Amino acid sequence: MESSEEQKLQVRKLELSDKSKGFIELLQQLTVCDSVSDKDFEDRFRELNARAEDHRVLVIEDARSGKIVATGSVFIERKFIRNCGKVGHIEDVVVDANARGMQLGKKIINALTDYAHSLGCYKVILDCSVENKAFYEKCGYKQKEIQMVKYFS
Ligand SMILES: CC(C)(COP(=O)(O)OP(=O)(O)OC[C@H]1O[C@@H](n2cnc3c(N)ncnc32)[C@H](O)[C@@H]1OP(=O)(O)O)[C@@H](O)C(=O)NCCC(=O)NCCS
Repeated sequence: MESSEEQKLQVRKLELSDKSKGFIELLQQLTVCDSVSDKDFEDRFRELNARAEDHRVLVIEDARSGKIVATGSVFIERKFIRNCGKVGHIEDVVVDANARGMQLGKKIINALTDYAHSLGCYKVILDCSVENKAFYEKCGYKQKEIQMVKYFS
């Protein structure tokens, strides 16, 4: 049985109205994220929704404040290798600074991981900073190899 506190912090899919509930401000706690116009938000939201199975953005709304306090996304990559297998890529995980340490990050990661598993992915991968390694280990992930990147801007 979930406590009444937990019932007020449920994981759900991103909704169009989440822009007015602090979704962009939450992403700004993660990385460079300029303000997004309502039109641009709606266009991107609809674009993602048209590919909803392969692009899942999850959030946790605090029912008491009506604010989005956690988010994360998973992209499902369809491959030729591994019998035309699929891989989940977890991205853009952040919990509001005032809500950290309440297991919300773990809740989001578990939901993203379960989603990828339910679609038949043979693995889920993500990049993280050294500081967050222990967090992901608590979520059942382990370190493997290294990350490479080339930025265009
Ligand atoms: C990393 C982050 C998502 C963790 O979210 P959170 O809700 O505070 O984490 P949780 O409360 O779910 O923690 C789950 C477990 O991991 C541990 N943990 C969390 N962050 C940790 C860290 N940085 N180092 C070590 N352990 C950590 C918690 O103590 C908890 O342990 P327990 O299950 O034994 O009690 C959050 O701190 C955050 O948003 N940071 C800024 C953005 C960021 O770095 N995002 C990740 C990008 S890769």
